[in-house]
Amino acid sequence: MQDSNPNNRYTITAALPYTNGAVHIGHLAGVYVPADIYSRYLRGINKDVLFVCGSDEHGVPITLRAKKEGITPQQVVDKYHKIIKDSFNEFGISFDNYSRTSAKVHYDTASQFFKKLYENGKFIEETNQQLYDEEAKQFLADRFVIGTCPKCGNEESYGDQCEKCGTSHNATDLINPKSAITGNIPTLKETKHWYLPLNEYESWLREWIVEGHKKDWKTNVLGQVKSWLDDGLRPRAVTRDLDWGIPVPVKGAEGKVLYVWFDAPIGYISSTKEWAEKNNKDWEPYWKDKNTKLIHFIGKDNIVFHSIIFPAMLKAEGSYILPANVPANEFLNLEGNKISTSKNWAVWLHEYLQDFPDKQDVLRYVLTANAPETKDNDFTWKDFQARNNNELVAVLGNFINRVVVLTNKYYSGIVPNPTNLTDIDEQVLEALKFAPKKIGKSIERYRFREALNEMMQVARLGNKYLADEEPWKKVKTDAERTKTIMYVALQIATALSVLTEPFLPFTAKKLQKILNIDTDLSWEDVQKKAVLLPENHQIGQAELLFSKIEDTEIEKQIAKLEATKKENETEKKEVPPQKETISFDDFTKLDMRIGTILEAEKVPKTKKLLKLLVDVGVDKRTIVSGIAESFKPEDIIGQKVTVLINLEPRKIKGIESQGMILMSDTKDGKLTFIEPENDKTQNGTFVS
Ligand code: 2FM
Ligand code: ZN
Repeated sequence: MQDSNPNNRYTITAALPYTNGAVHIGHLAGVYVPADIYSRYLRGINKDVLFVCGSDEHGVPITLRAKKEGITPQQVVDKYHKIIKDSFNEFGISFDNYSRTSAKVHYDTASQFFKKLYENGKFIEETNQQLYDEEAKQFLADRFVIGTCPKCGNEESYGDQCEKCGTSHNATDLINPKSAITGNIPTLKETKHWYLPLNEYESWLREWIVEGHKKDWKTNVLGQVKSWLDDGLRPRAVTRDLDWGIPVPVKGAEGKVLYVWFDAPIGYISSTKEWAEKNNKDWEPYWKDKNTKLIHFIGKDNIVFHSIIFPAMLKAEGSYILPANVPANEFLNLEGNKISTSKNWAVWLHEYLQDFPDKQDVLRYVLTANAPETKDNDFTWKDFQARNNNELVAVLGNFINRVVVLTNKYYSGIVPNPTNLTDIDEQVLEALKFAPKKIGKSIERYRFREALNEMMQVARLGNKYLADEEPWKKVKTDAERTKTIMYVALQIATALSVLTEPFLPFTAKKLQKILNIDTDLSWEDVQKKAVLLPENHQIGQAELLFSKIEDTEIEKQIAKLEATKKENETEKKEVPPQKETISFDDFTKLDMRIGTILEAEKVPKTKKLLKLLVDVGVDKRTIVSGIAESFKPEDIIGQKVTVLINLEPRKIKGIESQGMILMSDTKDGKLTFIEPENDKTQNGTFVS
């Protein structure tokens, strides 16, 4: 039963993902899995939880993606909204509502919000010079401009934020700015914008966060907030000269839209309104009742927006609550390198599911066990395999399987009645009752790794209990004792069907099915009920919860990443500049013909050279060519080639070479022949 006490109401938000690409493991580990564990747990202890999210469909990343793919921004967001929403669904992220910022309710909510601030004189209106790309005929803000971060010297900082040091700045602060659209150096052009004077909120923010939340906010968040406040806040433009976004709803702002970071967090409110509308509920208590706890789950690059800018907006508006916490995570790396959408250095959720279609919980587990809670962390496929095989299969899966198989074998699946509980039994059952509190405490402190470990401790306890008590031996000598052991083990298994739920929702469901539990057991039941699975209850058949992941599956994933790495390296290879211009006459002097290699052998004591006999139509001649590292002599007999035949002969390693075979360099550094498409092209045919 849900608690109607307003003190137990939670509004939980997860950062709205930009709709310019699919979601990857970094997103899941940093934001969505922890937010989901938190929400599921609070529901499990009967809190009134509203968990909202949606697609962030405005902003420069989407416009840039549209330009890159040659489609409209609308087509970009429609495509990725669906992919992202499906991925979240498939991984069991239990949003109560997943909206999008192109929804009408969001346009209305964001416009009203802006208008209210505007009408109450909360903005500064200012005309000044902004970066402008003359060729693209566009002002450059945010990700449209790249330059050197004035704080840390990162040469690839964006106009609004440096991803390296996290500093948030104005585009004009960048040193050596360059347009991300044309690469041009921007000029300055006058334009009018509305600014939120963050400086006026500085002392209030300091008091509210640095003083008021020094004990309950994470140190990484407090650290960033303190550093910005110490640097001093400045007015921040909340409008942009762009054609993609929500039009600024005031006179004199034609052609301008709201800054994406102004509209996006309001998306949490619009998503709540959409949910309320669909479910016939009142949205306001979730945002305006001061007993409600508002919690924002985000990645570290979003800290400034959720702990400084959005709270300042909410404060300026006046009728909203402020976040009770902003549990931001650090970043997840992949096999030692930063996850990067543009370099395709990521494990995409939709691709993961193609390779591991029923292993959503395995990924959830690994990402939680290895979550970047206090520092950046690394995801490796080897660790993924080890955690699956040594923990999920060997500990949790093994325990459940033993309990279910033995219960079916000894008692046809009927929970036996216990007789005398020994001290050990009592201790185990007591430890079980403590588990929800222990796990819950860690979750409430946003320590999800610790919480997961506590949950696994319960499975370990179960395994140890079975190993110590050995029901498979006692069954031969002591039927009564065996019944008690199996009864206790079944209580542990049942507790696990509840305690695994926030972390491994698919497994919890499966386990409930195996144990044939149809009542909704709560965390409180595990804590307080003496009996979780009563005697005479009929359980179902054993079914494996997890399966071993073989080396070959992991090698395939590693090979995929290797291929990506190679591709990135070759793509980076610079195209050399054009050589000096030659006259047409010079060109016509070149005599290039089609020929066929008749003989080939290695030039002794060299690595690169082959001695070839080539039929070039006019004659058969010897050519020494530096292709030995790319081809074996025996493989190129009969190969059609293009030959420059009037090149001055020269001696190479004592052999006179009478021409040159033309080759091209492939991406991976291997050479290929330039050959006629038609194999029958006669030797001696001109190439021009
Ligand atoms: O960093 C991002 O992906 C942003 N789209 C997050 C927005 S969170 C919010 F405020 F909407
Ligand atoms: Zn920086």
